[in-house]
Order: sequence, then C-alpha cells, then structure tokens
Amino acid sequence: MAVTLKGPTVKSAPLDVARIRKDFPILAQTVRGKPLVYLDNAATSQKPRQVIDAMSQVFEEHNANIHRGVYEFSERTTALFEEARAKVARFINAPSEREIIFVRNATEALNLVAYAWGRDNIKRGDRIVTTVLEHHSDFVPWQQLATEVGAEIAVVDIDDVGVAKIHAHELSLVAYLLPRLQEIPGVTVYGPKDLESRVGVVSFNIEGIHPHDVATIFDREGVCVRAGHHCNQPLMTRLGVPATTRASMYLYNTTDEMDALVGAIHTAKKVFGI
Ligand SMILES: Cc1ncc(COP(=O)(O)O)c(C=O)c1O
Repeated sequence: MAVTLKGPTVKSAPLDVARIRKDFPILAQTVRGKPLVYLDNAATSQKPRQVIDAMSQVFEEHNANIHRGVYEFSERTTALFEEARAKVARFINAPSEREIIFVRNATEALNLVAYAWGRDNIKRGDRIVTTVLEHHSDFVPWQQLATEVGAEIAVVDIDDVGVAKIHAHELSLVAYLLPRLQEIPGVTVYGPKDLESRVGVVSFNIEGIHPHDVATIFDREGVCVRAGHHCNQPLMTRLGVPATTRASMYLYNTTDEMDALVGAIHTAKKVFGI
C-alpha cells in the first residue's frame, strides 16, 4: 500500500482487513438498523476473539489470588500471570521483566510515573516540559506534581510539536477521507495539512452544528464518533473552539466506513438545513 497526499510516501504491506474483521465479533452488529461503523477507537478499541477467549478462560479455569495463595491452584495462576509478564517483556524488548508493570489504563500508568518517579526526582525549580496536545491524563498529574513540589510547567505549542508514528492502514483511511471532507462546504478539519504529520485520527467541525448534535445524528446512521473536548481543554482553548467531532481509525476500519462517515455529514447538514 502506498499513501500519498502531500509529503513523503508511506509504504507497507496491505492489511487483509476483511480477515482481520472476522476476529472482532462485535463489528458484525447493526445499530439502529444500520451496520455498525465504529470510529471511536482512540477512546476504546474493540477486542479480538483471541483476547475475549483468553479472558473467559481465566475466569472459567484459573481465577485465584496471585502471589499470596499457599495452595497449588493459586500457584498455577501466579505462574501464568508471571509468564504473561515475561511474554510482554520479550515482545517489547524490555531488558528485564521487572520493568513490566500491569496497570488498568494510560491514566493509571501516567499517575504512577508522575507520583512514584516524579516525587522522588522532580524538585523545586525544575521545569517539566509538556505540550498543548496532551490528554488530561498526561497533563493533570504533572500539573499537580509541579504545584506540590514547586516545579515549573512549560507548555510547548502545536507548531513546535513533532509527531513520530506510522500506522499505514489508518493513514491510508485518513488519506482517503481528508480530500472528501475538504470538498464539503462548512467542514473545518483540524490538524496538520500534510499526511506525514498526521495520525489515524480526524477531528473536524461542521459550521453551525454543535459536535454533540453531529454525533447524535451520526448515531442514527450507525456511525460512532466522539464529540467534546476529548479531555484536552488546553488544545480546545488554543484552537478557539469549545469542542470537535473526532473519528479515530483502527486496523479493522474500511474505506466503505469512511464513505458512511461522509454520508452522515451530508445527513447532518440536511437535518440542520445547512
Ligand atoms: C489520547 C488519549 N490519551 C489518553 C486517554 C486515557 O486513556 P485511559 O482510558 O487508558 O486512561 C485517552 C482516553 O480516551 C485518550 O483518548
């Protein structure tokens, strides 16, 4: 697959999206009589059958208190738990499995780093550098730590932030979607103009319609997107908008779903007489 919009070409082997989708049973559903078009992956991504089965297997066969049980059944569970830690360490090439700490989510991980590492290492007068693009989960803990220890927060603005990533499938969907959005009068797309600097997320607004209304009308078309400040009020303030509508893509999304999104925008405009 080669993605060209503006800037360098992004190459990768094409994904067999039809096959990948078969691993995600949830995607076969309809909502409101329409095929489910799930474009809220930045907030919650869907789980493949392999993950669902592994989780069921734990509860059906292995659930017990790990590390502290003195009976063989609990010891087996502890061994499986530690095997998973070793497997993750190998997968991400960590020098030691002791570096692998399981947490519930990004918010818990970032709070842990800010408070456990931060309280030990950040001192009065230190400067914590963050960016205007950070989710609250990577902003608020640092802000609170700075207040607590007397450090300073420096916020890097959008123009100075470089983006390091390449997810070719999601970018190919963005490359497909962006020109279509740009053709629709009244649609403002946020973020860099060149594909090279983008990730698999497209935030936009339709002039005259609040993003919450946009998402509600999209819902009637089976299209699930996120509307609001996306837990990033500094960026909303910087962009001068109260909220945006956000479509976030993943490896199971398709160009047909991008067409459904574009169709939903036309429906929203029609409903509002715009
Ligand atoms: C960009 C971004 N960062 C962080 C988070 C927080 O993630 P978690 O739910 O894993 O704490 C979210 C959640 O929506 C997010 O969209």
